Amino acid sequence: MHSLGILLSGRGSNFVAIADSIDAGRIPDARIAVVISNKADAPGIATARARGLTALVIPSKGRSREEHDREVVAVLKQHGVDLVCLAGYMRLLSPWFVQQFPRRILNIHPSLLPAFPGLEAQEQAFAYGVKVSGCTVHFVDEELDHGAIIVQKAVPVLETDDEHTLAARILVQEHVAYTEAVNIVLRGKFEIVGRRLQMKRA
Ligand code: GAR
Repeated sequence: MHSLGILLSGRGSNFVAIADSIDAGRIPDARIAVVISNKADAPGIATARARGLTALVIPSKGRSREEHDREVVAVLKQHGVDLVCLAGYMRLLSPWFVQQFPRRILNIHPSLLPAFPGLEAQEQAFAYGVKVSGCTVHFVDEELDHGAIIVQKAVPVLETDDEHTLAARILVQEHVAYTEAVNIVLRGKFEIVGRRLQMKRA
Protein backbone atom coordinates (compact mmCIF):
# COMPACT_ATOMS: atom_id res chain seq x y z
CA MET A 1 0.00 0.00 0.00
CA HIS A 2 1.43 3.36 -1.05
CA SER A 3 1.13 6.33 1.30
CA LEU A 4 0.62 9.71 -0.33
CA GLY A 5 1.36 13.02 1.32
CA ILE A 6 -0.46 16.02 -0.16
CA LEU A 7 0.88 19.56 0.19
CA LEU A 8 -1.46 22.43 -0.62
CA SER A 9 -1.93 26.13 0.03
CA GLY A 10 -5.50 26.83 -1.07
CA ARG A 11 -8.67 25.47 -2.61
CA GLY A 12 -7.50 21.88 -2.93
CA SER A 13 -9.41 20.73 -6.01
CA ASN A 14 -6.43 18.70 -7.24
CA PHE A 15 -6.21 17.06 -3.82
CA VAL A 16 -9.93 16.20 -4.04
CA ALA A 17 -9.43 14.75 -7.53
CA ILE A 18 -6.67 12.46 -6.22
CA ALA A 19 -8.74 11.48 -3.17
CA ASP A 20 -11.77 10.73 -5.39
CA SER A 21 -9.60 8.61 -7.70
CA ILE A 22 -8.30 6.59 -4.76
CA ASP A 23 -11.81 6.10 -3.36
CA ALA A 24 -13.11 5.03 -6.79
CA GLY A 25 -10.26 2.55 -7.33
CA ARG A 26 -8.74 4.54 -10.20
CA ILE A 27 -5.53 4.77 -8.16
CA PRO A 28 -5.24 1.26 -6.71
CA ASP A 29 -3.25 0.28 -3.66
CA ALA A 30 -2.82 3.79 -2.31
CA ARG A 31 -4.07 5.94 0.53
CA ILE A 32 -3.63 9.55 1.55
CA ALA A 33 -1.60 9.42 4.76
CA VAL A 34 -1.55 13.15 5.48
CA VAL A 35 -2.55 16.51 3.99
CA ILE A 36 -0.41 19.50 4.94
CA SER A 37 -0.99 23.19 4.27
CA ASN A 38 1.39 26.06 4.86
CA LYS A 39 -1.65 28.36 5.16
CA ALA A 40 -4.07 28.10 8.09
CA ASP A 41 -7.04 29.30 6.04
CA ALA A 42 -6.58 26.91 3.10
CA PRO A 43 -10.04 25.51 2.24
CA GLY A 44 -8.35 22.24 1.26
CA ILE A 45 -7.59 21.53 4.94
CA ALA A 46 -11.26 21.72 5.95
CA THR A 47 -12.16 19.53 2.98
CA ALA A 48 -9.55 16.94 4.01
CA ARG A 49 -10.83 16.86 7.59
CA ALA A 50 -14.42 16.50 6.37
CA ARG A 51 -13.26 13.43 4.44
CA GLY A 52 -11.80 11.98 7.64
CA LEU A 53 -8.18 12.49 6.58
CA THR A 54 -5.34 13.68 8.80
CA ALA A 55 -4.79 17.32 7.87
CA LEU A 56 -2.24 19.62 9.46
CA VAL A 57 -1.26 23.25 9.11
CA ILE A 58 2.45 23.97 9.28
CA PRO A 59 2.67 27.75 8.85
CA SER A 60 5.46 29.04 6.65
CA LYS A 61 5.04 32.71 7.45
CA GLY A 62 7.97 34.25 9.26
CA ARG A 63 10.12 31.12 9.10
CA SER A 64 13.11 30.28 6.96
CA ARG A 65 12.53 27.89 4.07
CA GLU A 66 14.87 25.31 5.56
CA GLU A 67 13.26 25.43 9.01
CA HIS A 68 9.77 25.08 7.56
CA ASP A 69 10.78 22.32 5.17
CA ARG A 70 12.40 20.33 8.00
CA GLU A 71 9.14 20.29 9.91
CA VAL A 72 7.11 19.33 6.81
CA VAL A 73 9.51 16.49 5.92
CA ALA A 74 9.47 15.22 9.52
CA VAL A 75 5.66 15.01 9.44
CA LEU A 76 5.66 13.31 6.02
CA LYS A 77 8.14 10.71 7.29
CA GLN A 78 6.20 10.19 10.54
CA HIS A 79 3.21 9.28 8.40
CA GLY A 80 5.22 6.86 6.24
CA VAL A 81 4.73 8.91 3.07
CA ASP A 82 6.39 7.44 -0.03
CA LEU A 83 4.96 9.83 -2.65
CA VAL A 84 4.58 13.58 -2.16
CA CYS A 85 2.01 15.36 -4.35
CA LEU A 86 2.13 19.14 -4.53
CA ALA A 87 -1.42 20.27 -5.23
CA GLY A 88 -1.46 24.04 -5.45
CA TYR A 89 1.40 24.30 -2.94
CA MET A 90 2.57 27.84 -3.58
CA ARG A 91 6.02 27.45 -2.14
CA LEU A 92 9.40 26.50 -3.54
CA LEU A 93 10.94 23.44 -1.92
CA SER A 94 14.49 23.68 -0.64
CA PRO A 95 17.08 21.44 -2.35
CA TRP A 96 17.31 19.54 0.94
CA PHE A 97 13.56 18.74 0.83
CA VAL A 98 13.83 17.56 -2.79
CA GLN A 99 16.71 15.24 -1.84
CA GLN A 100 14.64 13.58 0.91
CA PHE A 101 12.26 12.04 -1.65
CA PRO A 102 14.24 11.34 -4.84
CA ARG A 103 11.86 11.14 -7.84
CA ARG A 104 9.03 10.92 -5.35
CA ILE A 105 7.71 14.48 -5.44
CA LEU A 106 5.19 15.51 -8.11
CA ASN A 107 3.81 18.93 -8.98
CA ILE A 108 0.99 20.10 -11.19
CA HIS A 109 1.30 23.32 -13.13
CA PRO A 110 -1.45 24.99 -15.22
CA SER A 111 0.49 25.46 -18.46
CA LEU A 112 2.35 23.41 -21.04
CA LEU A 113 5.82 23.69 -19.51
CA PRO A 114 8.37 25.05 -20.24
CA ALA A 115 5.97 27.83 -21.27
CA PHE A 116 4.72 30.10 -18.51
CA PRO A 117 6.31 28.84 -15.29
CA GLY A 118 5.61 30.67 -12.04
CA LEU A 119 2.47 32.37 -10.82
CA GLU A 120 -0.81 32.83 -12.73
CA ALA A 121 0.25 30.66 -15.63
CA GLN A 122 -3.22 30.64 -17.19
CA GLU A 123 -3.35 34.45 -17.22
CA GLN A 124 0.19 34.59 -18.63
CA ALA A 125 -0.76 32.21 -21.45
CA PHE A 126 -3.99 34.04 -22.23
CA ALA A 127 -2.28 37.44 -22.29
CA TYR A 128 0.49 36.08 -24.53
CA GLY A 129 -2.13 35.04 -27.05
CA VAL A 130 -1.36 31.34 -27.32
CA LYS A 131 -3.93 29.22 -29.18
CA VAL A 132 -3.22 26.12 -27.12
CA SER A 133 -2.37 25.84 -23.45
CA GLY A 134 -2.88 23.07 -20.91
CA CYS A 135 -1.31 21.54 -17.85
CA THR A 136 1.76 19.58 -16.84
CA VAL A 137 2.46 17.07 -14.08
CA HIS A 138 6.20 16.80 -13.52
CA PHE A 139 8.77 15.58 -11.03
CA VAL A 140 9.98 18.29 -8.71
CA ASP A 141 13.66 19.14 -8.86
CA GLU A 142 15.62 22.03 -7.40
CA GLU A 143 14.37 24.53 -10.01
CA LEU A 144 10.94 26.12 -10.27
CA ASP A 145 8.42 24.20 -12.45
CA HIS A 146 11.30 22.36 -14.09
CA GLY A 147 11.64 18.59 -13.46
CA ALA A 148 11.02 15.76 -15.94
CA ILE A 149 7.52 15.76 -17.42
CA ILE A 150 5.19 12.86 -16.57
CA VAL A 151 1.88 13.87 -18.20
CA GLN A 152 0.70 16.86 -20.22
CA LYS A 153 -2.80 17.70 -21.45
CA ALA A 154 -3.44 20.27 -24.16
CA VAL A 155 -6.39 22.65 -23.92
CA PRO A 156 -7.32 24.87 -26.89
CA VAL A 157 -7.88 28.57 -26.28
CA LEU A 158 -11.29 29.48 -27.70
CA GLU A 159 -12.30 32.77 -29.31
CA THR A 160 -14.87 33.17 -26.55
CA ASP A 161 -12.43 32.55 -23.69
CA ASP A 162 -11.24 34.93 -21.05
CA GLU A 163 -8.54 33.94 -18.57
CA HIS A 164 -11.15 32.58 -16.16
CA THR A 165 -12.94 30.28 -18.61
CA LEU A 166 -9.58 29.08 -19.91
CA ALA A 167 -8.36 28.37 -16.35
CA ALA A 168 -11.57 26.45 -15.61
CA ARG A 169 -11.13 24.20 -18.65
CA ILE A 170 -7.46 23.65 -17.83
CA LEU A 171 -8.47 22.69 -14.27
CA VAL A 172 -10.72 19.89 -15.55
CA GLN A 173 -7.71 18.46 -17.39
CA GLU A 174 -5.46 18.94 -14.35
CA HIS A 175 -7.67 16.59 -12.37
CA VAL A 176 -7.44 13.91 -15.07
CA ALA A 177 -3.69 14.41 -15.54
CA TYR A 178 -2.82 14.11 -11.85
CA THR A 179 -4.47 10.70 -11.51
CA GLU A 180 -2.67 9.46 -14.63
CA ALA A 181 0.68 10.72 -13.38
CA VAL A 182 0.31 9.21 -9.90
CA ASN A 183 -0.49 5.85 -11.49
CA ILE A 184 2.54 6.02 -13.80
CA VAL A 185 4.87 6.84 -10.91
CA LEU A 186 3.41 4.26 -8.51
CA ARG A 187 3.57 1.49 -11.12
CA GLY A 188 7.21 2.40 -11.72
CA LYS A 189 7.34 0.96 -15.25
CA PHE A 190 9.29 3.86 -16.70
CA GLU A 191 12.77 5.18 -16.99
CA ILE A 192 14.04 8.71 -17.36
CA VAL A 193 16.50 9.23 -20.18
CA GLY A 194 17.86 12.76 -20.07
CA ARG A 195 14.66 14.64 -19.32
CA ARG A 196 12.42 12.16 -21.14
CA LEU A 197 10.14 9.83 -19.23
CA GLN A 198 9.81 6.68 -21.32
CA MET A 199 7.48 3.81 -20.53
CA LYS A 200 9.25 0.46 -20.33
CA ARG A 201 7.94 -2.17 -22.71
CA ALA A 202 6.00 -4.96 -21.00
C1 GAR B 1 -3.98 24.67 -9.84
O1 GAR B 1 -4.42 25.29 -11.02
C2 GAR B 1 -2.52 24.29 -9.94
O2 GAR B 1 -2.15 23.83 -11.21
C3 GAR B 1 -1.86 25.59 -9.61
O3 GAR B 1 -2.61 26.11 -8.54
C4 GAR B 1 -3.96 25.66 -8.68
C5 GAR B 1 -4.38 25.02 -7.38
O4 GAR B 1 -5.74 24.68 -7.43
N1 GAR B 1 -0.49 25.41 -9.25
C6 GAR B 1 0.48 26.25 -9.61
O5 GAR B 1 0.29 27.27 -10.22
C7 GAR B 1 1.87 25.83 -9.17
N2 GAR B 1 2.88 26.61 -9.83
P1 GAR B 1 -6.33 23.64 -6.40
O6 GAR B 1 -5.94 24.16 -4.99
O7 GAR B 1 -7.80 23.71 -6.60
O8 GAR B 1 -5.75 22.29 -6.69
